[in-house]
Amino acid sequence: MSDDEKAVTIPAQADEPQLQGGTLTKDPAPGEVLLKVTGLQKHFPIKKGLLQRQVGAVHAVDGLDFEVRSGETLGVVGESGCGKSTMGRLITRLLEPTGGKIEFEGKDITHLGVSGMRPLRRNVQMIFQDPYSSLNPRHTIGTIVGAPFKLQGVEPEGGVKKEVQRLLEVVGLNPEHYNRYPHEFSGGQRQRIGIARALALNPKLVVADEPVSALDVSIQAQVVNLLDDLQQELGLTYVIIAHDLSVVRHVSDRIAVMYLGKIVELADRELLYKAPMHPYTKALMSAVPIPDPRRKNAKSDRILLQGDVPSPISPPSGCRFHTRCWKATQICTTTEPPLLQLQPGQQVACHHPENFADQAPQDTVLLTVAKEAEKLLGETALQESAETSAAVAATLSEEAAEPVSEPETGTDEEK
Ligand SMILES: Nc1ncnc2c1ncn2[C@@H]1O[C@H](COP(=O)(O)OP(=O)(O)OP(=O)(O)O)[C@@H](O)[C@H]1O
Ligand code: SF4
Ligand SMILES: [Mg+2]
Repeated sequence: MSDDEKAVTIPAQADEPQLQGGTLTKDPAPGEVLLKVTGLQKHFPIKKGLLQRQVGAVHAVDGLDFEVRSGETLGVVGESGCGKSTMGRLITRLLEPTGGKIEFEGKDITHLGVSGMRPLRRNVQMIFQDPYSSLNPRHTIGTIVGAPFKLQGVEPEGGVKKEVQRLLEVVGLNPEHYNRYPHEFSGGQRQRIGIARALALNPKLVVADEPVSALDVSIQAQVVNLLDDLQQELGLTYVIIAHDLSVVRHVSDRIAVMYLGKIVELADRELLYKAPMHPYTKALMSAVPIPDPRRKNAKSDRILLQGDVPSPISPPSGCRFHTRCWKATQICTTTEPPLLQLQPGQQVACHHPENFADQAPQDTVLLTVAKEAEKLLGETALQESAETSAAVAATLSEEAAEPVSEPETGTDEEK
């Protein structure tokens, strides 16, 4: 038995998502808007020469608009380098935005200075990706988890030590280990220490940047479950960043899909899984294995994206995905598609969205790159795309809420 297994004392999942008619659902969270982001940008300057003259900029985050409501979990997914961490650091104000606006509880916090941010730091906390580098190896976990109290000048009832021990217990660690150092803990346990530190000041919003990607698969589910339990118990609001959909699938109420510094689709989880509208979302989803024994012998319908993500220093014109999209037409190269609500709960930025009545660019000339992608995809995927698009578009116009056809089978650990 590993150290992690010994230490885990996750309470029973009282509010585990319910299977209803084959659909895994989580209660919707229609809370107040806690965080509102408008046109958010972060361009990192590229400087060269003796005079350090600016010769360009990395367009890491390039105009994001979204809201996070109290009590909900917003999952953010996208390939490496698409700007997820930068977005997380902007909304927690660890980075200064280049443009746009960030409002927290209706207050503009976009350019607040250190003293202006002090009260906000209690309410917004971040959990970092790497539990090995995010904990100071020279400090005991008592000091690490108790640091936020010192920084904020807060004296918890019963003293810092008692409160830290309580927090360690909450995240499933032994409170007796108060005086141990980070190297004495496994990766999963270290991430629990990071979570305890983030929870110390009872925050309203927790931004978790790839909280489990540095952990073994067997430990990932335990930490995801812990975050889910803590949300139920403490009424937390989460922004959870991940590079694929399998981690956010079980915990998110809504999911934002990012590509090269932009949100290309933002939708309620059920809608996104039932009928993704952006071709990029569809490609990401087809890469997530679905553990359904009935599909064991089914033909693979994976969409393989060609090429690498283009450079954020000079992103492609028009739709940034046009260099890899199998539906790209001329308009995609010249006109940037705005993020529009195509149906309640689903916003998409695409000229030819999937699963939508007028999605198919049938009479339009496909770009060369799209023709190549077509070859790569083969008949099956294209046919399937056209058929599901037509069928779902018809269904959606009749009825908004239909059960998801793929039943889920639980967390990774349980699979
Ligand atoms: N401090 C910085 N200075 C210059 N460029 C940066 C800086 N931080 C990030 N970038 C660049 O901004 C882009 C977005 O980076 P970011 O770390 O936000 O991506 P990410 O989606 O979190 O990727 P990953 O999944 O690999 O963590 C990348 O091209 C990255 O190189
Ligand atoms: S169809 Fe056009 S607009 Fe839509 S994702 Fe593809 S390239 Fe972008
Ligand atoms: Mg990152």
